[in-house]
Amino acid sequence: MRMILIGPPGAGKGTQAPKIKEKYNCCHLATGDMLRAQVAAKTELGRQAKKIMDQGGLVSDEIMVNMIKQELENNKDCKSGFILDGFPRTVPQAEKLDEMLKDKSRPLKHAIELQIEDELLVARITGRLVHPASGRSYHKIFNPPKKAMTDDISGEPLIQRSDDNAETLKKRLGTYHAQTGPVTDYYRTTGIWSKVDASKEPGQVWKSLLGIMEKDS
Ligand code: AP5
Ligand code: ZN
Repeated sequence: MRMILIGPPGAGKGTQAPKIKEKYNCCHLATGDMLRAQVAAKTELGRQAKKIMDQGGLVSDEIMVNMIKQELENNKDCKSGFILDGFPRTVPQAEKLDEMLKDKSRPLKHAIELQIEDELLVARITGRLVHPASGRSYHKIFNPPKKAMTDDISGEPLIQRSDDNAETLKKRLGTYHAQTGPVTDYYRTTGIWSKVDASKEPGQVWKSLLGIMEKDS
């Protein structure tokens, strides 16, 4: 599998991608998770990225393209395929990705857009709980952990992301429509673009994704 998941904050990219990874035995590259790992490691990039993420903006194309390039070239799990979650987020990122994959004769098979109205995202984002080490996410109401504030698998504490509040979400959605909207237009005419109704419950969204992905396998 070689695909990208596009969708606004809270659409369900991070919920569905691990299932795709498991089914197709490929890597899951989530640029937001990579940036949060830099923040946790207290690197200079992490320090700069945290400011931008908490303001709902975007980290520079150059940094993000290099980050993905490194992973696609060096991460052994990506040899059999990949799912990109949160990348590309701008048209220049999409163009660079195309170039990168063309050079390696590994073109994308799917660009799937998770479509959902903004109004439904506030509850999803403000109720999300995450396990920082794995990127696993839960929801206080829609997908609660077995034990409050505790990751089901590791037993470690769950946290709320610092950008998961109603005010920052508004800015993230503004950025999404302005910068990432054109990315969906970019793929729409390529023949690899499909859309899924992401307002449905997670099992239904998964079924829709499977329907698209199994067409070519
Ligand atoms: P990133 O981490 O990618 O955040 P995002 O795009 O805003 O997406 P989210 O992680 O918030 O949403 P998701 O779609 O993964 O939702 P999830 O499945 O968790 O990026 C963070 C920041 O990093 C960006 O703002 C930017 O600053 C920077 N960045 C990252 N990539 C970049 C790039 N390429 N270029 C520049 N800057 C970049 O679900 C959300 C919640 O809803 C969960 O609680 C979940 O349990 C629940 N849920 C999921 N599906 C359903 C459902 N079907 N029904 C009910 N609840 C559901
Ligand atoms: Zn995510």
